[in-house]
Order: sequence, then C-alpha cells, then structure tokens
Amino acid sequence: MSNDKSIGDAIRNFTKFDDIKAYYNKTISKLDRNQTFNSIKSATKDPIVVNVLVGVGTLTSYFIIRKLYTGFFRRIKNIGDVRDVDIERQRILKGVCVSVGDGDNFRFFHKPTMRWFMRPPKRSSTNKLDDFTLHVRLAGMDAPECAHFGLPGQPMGEEVKSWLKNFLIGNNVTIQLLKKDQYQRVVCEVHVRKWWYWLKLRQLNVSRYMLQQGFGVAYEGISEIYSNKRNNDARKKEYQEIEQKARKQKIGMWSIKNMESPRDYKKRVKK
Ligand SMILES: *[C@@H]1O[C@H](CO)[C@@H](O)[C@H](O)[C@H]1NC(C)=O
Ligand SMILES: *[C@@H]1O[C@H](CO)[C@@H](O)[C@H](O)[C@H]1NC(C)=O
Repeated sequence: MSNDKSIGDAIRNFTKFDDIKAYYNKTISKLDRNQTFNSIKSATKDPIVVNVLVGVGTLTSYFIIRKLYTGFFRRIKNIGDVRDVDIERQRILKGVCVSVGDGDNFRFFHKPTMRWFMRPPKRSSTNKLDDFTLHVRLAGMDAPECAHFGLPGQPMGEEVKSWLKNFLIGNNVTIQLLKKDQYQRVVCEVHVRKWWYWLKLRQLNVSRYMLQQGFGVAYEGISEIYSNKRNNDARKKEYQEIEQKARKQKIGMWSIKNMESPRDYKKRVKK
C-alpha cells in the first residue's frame, strides 16, 4: 500500500517532460551506456571475437576489391578471359583494333580503365594474336567473302577488307559483347570515333555504317545474337531496311550486277 502510494507520488512529481528527461539521463541511460561499453570492451579482449571480426572485414574487402577489379580493371587478354557473365551483361570494352581478318571481323586489344597507355605487343611465334587479342565478329552484317583456302573470293571482298583495314586499324574502338560464336570469336556491336561523324560527339556504329555504304548484307542468322526475341526482331528489321536502301541506291557491292549474297556464295562454293 505504501509502495503504491510512493510510486503515485513519484509520477505526480514528473509533471514536466524535462523532469523525465533529467531522470532518464541521470540513471537509466548511464546504466545502459556503461553496460554496452563494458560488453564491447570485454569482447575486444576475447581473441575469438577479434579474429572473427578481422576475418569478416578481410573477406568483405577482398570481395569488394575483386568485384571492382573484374568489373573495371581486369584486362581481357583473349577469348579465355571472357566469362559468361560478361556476355550476359553485354559488357562494353574499350581498346584498339590491331588487325583485320576479313570484311566483317578484326582483332581487338583490350585497354581496361586507367590503362589507356598500354600498347599492343608485337606478334611473334611465342606471342600469337590469339594470346593477346579478342577476335571480334561484327554483329548484324555479312561482308562479301575474300578468297580462302584456294577458293576464289567474291567481287568486292578484297575492297571491303582493305577499306575496313584503313577504317579501323590503330583506332580506338568500343565493343559490346553479345555472344561467343563457334569459331571462338565474340560477336559485338562496334563503335569508333571519327572526327567527321557528328563532329566527334557521338561514336559511329560500324555495322550500320558498312550496310549504309553497301559493304555487306544484313546477317540472316541474327536471331541468335540478341538475348530476347523482341530485340532480335527489331534489330533484324532495322538492319534489313538499311541494306534495302543501299541496294536501291546501287552503291558499294550493289553497283555490281547480279551480286550474290555472301550466304548464297558460301552455299554454292561448298558444294
Ligand atoms: C586513343 O586514345 C588514346 C587515349 O585517350 C589517345 O592518346 C590516342 O591518341 C587515341 N588514338 C587515336 C587513333 O585516336
Ligand atoms: C547499331 O546499328 C544497328 C542497326 O541500325 C542497331 O540495331 C543497333 O542498335 C546500333 N547500336 C547501337 C548501340 O546503337
């Protein structure tokens, strides 16, 4: 009874919020703080806790650093370094074109972030193109075939190849990884900066530009390139429309009468 009475008195005494705050500061918070502080203090003396904390910290920083490294700073030397996630995320890489194989593929030397000063090494018997470059196949288009393995080439095959050499070799190019093909190449959308193109503000889309000039046909197997069907159909239509326009203008390979598509040509000579 007397207890109840004194509690009631105490409550009645706390008429102002300031009183409650003062009471809290004086007693409860001090207790709490001391307790927390003491338990942390004793934990840091416990070697197991310390080891676990250091371990977790080290692991976390390791994963963060590794993620940054593989995402930005890792150099993709060759096809072996291209991971599935690089393709899934359609990673964009910057580098330089080292050589041109045909009218629609070339060799790319990757220069990762902060390593723009890198220069491609010289080719030798111990340092082959396959070791230090990616073999890039231009997405969405087929250039006329050059002579291969004793087979004659198509008209314009050599012309388009030497045009591409002049256009790309030694230039900074940006590639977007889309797919690995059966020849250990990466199918990519490729961009290059040319001073005359939009006065350098935008990069030039190489596949599109070549189709516009009549230097190739839209790639018929495009459905395998882009990851989803809607994207595929849209792109395919776009590429085919550009090809049709060049055909009508009779420019590039379309200036030649009865020009065969590279696909038909390959079918014919393989017989
Ligand atoms: C490529 O980029 C590097 C670094 O930005 C620059 O120094 C070099 O001149 C560029 N090369 C060409 C051909 O534009
Ligand atoms: C490059 O051009 C093709 C054909 O027009 C187009 O489908 C593609 O989206 C272009 N790429 C980029 C990154 O704009």
